[in-house]
Amino acid sequence: EEAASGCVIGRRVVVYQSTRSTNDIAWEYAKGAESDGLVVFAEEQSGGRGRRGNKWLSSAGQSLLCSVIVSGVSAGAELLTLASAVATAEAIREYAGVSARIKWPNDVMVGGKKICGILVESRAIAGRKVFVVGIGINCHQGEDFFGSEELRMPGTSVDLAMGEVCDRNELAGVLLRKLDVWVGKMQADEKAVIDGWGRLSSQLGEYVTVEHNNRRYSGICAGVDPVEGLILRLDGGAVRMFEAGQTTIVKH
Ligand code: BTN
Repeated sequence: EEAASGCVIGRRVVVYQSTRSTNDIAWEYAKGAESDGLVVFAEEQSGGRGRRGNKWLSSAGQSLLCSVIVSGVSAGAELLTLASAVATAEAIREYAGVSARIKWPNDVMVGGKKICGILVESRAIAGRKVFVVGIGINCHQGEDFFGSEELRMPGTSVDLAMGEVCDRNELAGVLLRKLDVWVGKMQADEKAVIDGWGRLSSQLGEYVTVEHNNRRYSGICAGVDPVEGLILRLDGGAVRMFEAGQTTIVKH
């Protein structure tokens, strides 16, 4: 595969031992010049953030934690989230040889258990739209970690999924290459991203239940719209779209 834009992502890489959140560090760098494609890694986070105000828990050295600055793209946060999820699922598949799938909008699952979460944030900086894509991949956690009551859904790690100790640096290399490819594709052709999602989605064509503004809706997933969100053909026959910001899949 070839990167459309000549490997922008990972042009600059900074590594922190410990930080509150790699997304926060990325936002600091985003104020400076030449920050497009910069990647922040950390061994440990004290205040990792997840979607919808959730915390992201990981203990030191156990996860691949990174945040990538993406600017100068015309896409919105929703499409970038899809592209990032496709890139991450492909990276985990290629590196670990396991069948990773995307749980819309931003989780990557293996065997129905969450292995990775993605948080895309956006801000305007000096009149430019800038995104930070934060990615957390569980790498070395064992079964005991996922027994914790604080976790909101069943989880797994790359080590557990592949049955051997993974090399985080190698996985990181594959991840950055895939991100570069998919952010490039996203700019050239948003349909490629939607198709990529369709190939790796665990919802497409399935009967799912979502929670949206405290109400539940069930139907067959007919696809995804890069702006409006998940498309469901509801039980009554009506087709409705659910925006990522207000929606979680509760059953599928
Ligand atoms: C989610 O599952 O809701 C998204 C989790 C995103 C976690 C990653 S870890 C690296 C980056 N820094 C953060 O504070 N969050 C993201």
